[in-house]
Amino acid sequence: NANPVEFPEGFLFGGATAANQIEGAYDEDGKGLSIQDVMPQGFVGPITTGPTPENLKLEAIDFYHRYAEDIALFAKMGFRVFRFSIAWSRIFPNGDDTQPNEAGLAFYDRVLDELEKYGIEPLVTISHYETPLALAQRYNGWVSRDLIGLYERYVRVLFDRYGARVRYWLTFNEINSVLHAPFMSGAIATPPEELSPSDLYQAVHHELVASALATKIAHEMDPHIKVGCMVLAMPVYPLTPAPADVHAAMAADHANLLFGDVHVRGEYPGYALRMFRDRGIELDITARDRELLHNTVDFVSFSYYMSSCETADPAKRAAGQGNIMGGVPNPTLQASEWGWQIDPVGLRTVMNQFWDRWQKPLFIVENGLGARDRLVQVDGHPTVLDDYRIAYLNDHLVQVAEAVEDGVEVWGYTTWGCIDLVSASTAQMSKRYGFIYVDRDDDGSGTLDRYPKKSFGWYAEVIASNGRTL
Ligand code: BG6
Repeated sequence: NANPVEFPEGFLFGGATAANQIEGAYDEDGKGLSIQDVMPQGFVGPITTGPTPENLKLEAIDFYHRYAEDIALFAKMGFRVFRFSIAWSRIFPNGDDTQPNEAGLAFYDRVLDELEKYGIEPLVTISHYETPLALAQRYNGWVSRDLIGLYERYVRVLFDRYGARVRYWLTFNEINSVLHAPFMSGAIATPPEELSPSDLYQAVHHELVASALATKIAHEMDPHIKVGCMVLAMPVYPLTPAPADVHAAMAADHANLLFGDVHVRGEYPGYALRMFRDRGIELDITARDRELLHNTVDFVSFSYYMSSCETADPAKRAAGQGNIMGGVPNPTLQASEWGWQIDPVGLRTVMNQFWDRWQKPLFIVENGLGARDRLVQVDGHPTVLDDYRIAYLNDHLVQVAEAVEDGVEVWGYTTWGCIDLVSASTAQMSKRYGFIYVDRDDDGSGTLDRYPKKSFGWYAEVIASNGRTL
């Protein structure tokens, strides 16, 4: 890179995880079952009636018992922030219990103690694809308005217990993904093919209201708390310059932007109201809901892995693979081993789009490359020479710096899966994202030992130099 890269002083470099993908201990200390405990093959696979031995998430990487060792490794890389989620079913095992589970709460106290020891800022996701299973079974998840009150009970407990220690909160991981993965994202038990658009968007509405309510509660409890929404960002390009393709791309983008628009503007945009009318979607939106939606977010956080294309021409509509939503593949881009198309410039583009549109600080809370790693011995130590991962992250961070130059306000960047974890879409261990290798394979075998990869040292230098080594 010819130009020296500049990041704002104190830029929050770090890494990100989710409880269900790292903790394991799925039934320890009073934890109830979560939807992940019955999704052994990720979000595309079947839902089982109970936990089954092949489900790698039941033990995951055993962060529940090894968190101190892992956080020490994050500190060694110089992390300034660590994003993790709280497993709702550790706090309310069934989701609708009247009293929280003290042993579950105490676990996150211990995690926070460890982070404080190293001066690492916590960034907490309140709900990351791990809703208590009972809420899917008894209520059909977010289709039910009751979920708003149950989520409120949960967040009140969290803010009360950790509010003084945790400044940054995210209400729902990739909230827009409920359109594509209703069970994983919204605990909606109705099979996708039977789910009506009205029920689906009613669930969306309930989540949006719950998110605004959480923001209101947080601000009332402590004005220093910063609450962000979290969206799956996937900019959509027109496949050709044909006006109909450009329009199709805009419409596909709107389907995602709707979530940020409501979080930032406090009401549904006109294009959403039209889409509801055109599709015959009738929503139950109360006067109180409208009032609550005015509690808008302090910042916008997002995941970014790839861009996609859209076309109005059905003959050109090849289905792409990718992060939950797919899209039409871009003929100009290369893809990862899992078919996710790699597009660093798209990150700069989407950051500009979000900033221009919302004028809210941004936080990139997921970005990374899932790849098959090969363990080798270097100087008698097991490691992975993951130059491909270094290249991916380097190229994306350079684009973040470009966006900063463009005038975009961005608070931080947390790479996804800073330690190897179980993948969300396919529930594999072999789809690795980490700076730290975890000795566990897809068949569940392995010692669970941790080994720093080559990218570990690379990221440590990036952070220590505040990005100047990129
Ligand atoms: C995001 C999720 O969709 O992408 C994470 O928030 C997930 O939970 C990440 O792990 C990467 O996806 P995958 O399927 O490769 O794990």
